[in-house]
Amino acid sequence: MSAGEGTMRAIVQRELGAPDVLVLERIPRPDPGEGEVRVRVAAAGVHAVDTDLRRGEGPASMPETRLPMTPGREIAGTVDAVGAGVDGDLLGTSVVAHVGFRSGGYAEYALVAASALHPVPDGVTFAQAVASIGTGRTAQLVLDAAGMAPTEIVVIPGASGGLGSQLAQLALSIGATAVALYGGESKRAVVEQLARAEAPLPGRLVALDATDDSWPALMAAALDGDAPSLLLDGVGGPTARAAVESLARGARVVIFGWSSGAVVRIDTEDIVARSLTVTVPLGRPIADLRALESRALTATAEGRARPPVDEYPLADAAAAHAAIEQRRQRGKVVLAP
Ligand SMILES: NC(=O)c1ccc[n+]([C@@H]2O[C@H](COP(=O)([O-])OP(=O)(O)OC[C@H]3O[C@@H](n4cnc5c(N)ncnc54)[C@H](OP(=O)(O)O)[C@@H]3O)[C@@H](O)[C@H]2O)c1
Repeated sequence: MSAGEGTMRAIVQRELGAPDVLVLERIPRPDPGEGEVRVRVAAAGVHAVDTDLRRGEGPASMPETRLPMTPGREIAGTVDAVGAGVDGDLLGTSVVAHVGFRSGGYAEYALVAASALHPVPDGVTFAQAVASIGTGRTAQLVLDAAGMAPTEIVVIPGASGGLGSQLAQLALSIGATAVALYGGESKRAVVEQLARAEAPLPGRLVALDATDDSWPALMAAALDGDAPSLLLDGVGGPTARAAVESLARGARVVIFGWSSGAVVRIDTEDIVARSLTVTVPLGRPIADLRALESRALTATAEGRARPPVDEYPLADAAAAHAAIEQRRQRGKVVLAP
């Protein structure tokens, strides 16, 4: 085989460990099997969970990492080959998909079941589409659990991240007040931009630096004494705990992660004292993931969520992982092959 013919550039992980186990190699380009398509990848999503899997510390709900492997469960690009039983009209179309546990997204080409494809909506870039598929469907799940109303004041820790940025935009898009917390000055610009997804969003954005311990007092001043009625938390730790203490009576808390390393502490005394409702929408079967994906892509197409994207070349996958692990991400981290 001559150099390049029938091959592709891909990130290959041959051992568990630090980000530098993610190495760019030239490997055979895969051919689609029955019911599958091959996508020429233009954007591949990078997840915090990918970094856990890379270290061999993935969640119990996911299969153990089998090596060697190419990470990446979210792809957007152009269909360049179809397998048996797949409609040839898909060739050349722009698509986005969650490839599931099979992974393989950090590559020039990736395989996915034709049934998992969504068309990339008009006016949406490949990077925005890939930011909307996996993270977007989780955002929709969180919204369903939250039942957010336009009159609400919603606190969102980690608003600089993939999920937090979308949740803040979705809150703003219905006219709610989003208290968007970010981790330090370097994150301020990306969070302050959230109120402008496509056109200006109607809600009120209160962006606060959560590394400044006075943020609850600054929030109270900004809200003229009103207290938040909803906390959407994927960060946990002291920031989320301070957010719990700021909540109004009857407020709801939706927990979907703990990027800080510790789940937010809420005990039954907190719940009883302020009549809180605490919901965890993950870790149990989800009825219709595909419908959640469609809703997420529609939100992006309509400009209600245009998640900020933090883009790296494919060869820099290790740097992209390090950015997530060192809390340097600004929006959804995406690789561009
Ligand atoms: N994306 C999904 O589809 C999905 C699905 C299920 C669960 N989750 C969970 O939801 C949470 C957010 O996911 P994500 O995809 O938005 O992740 P992400 O893009 O990595 O963003 C996480 C955010 O958390 C904040 N953070 C605060 N303390 C941190 C710390 N000590 N280390 C790292 N980050 C810290 C960071 O914002 P600041 O630095 O600005 O504070 C960061 O932007 C995670 O716990 C994840 O496991 C996500």
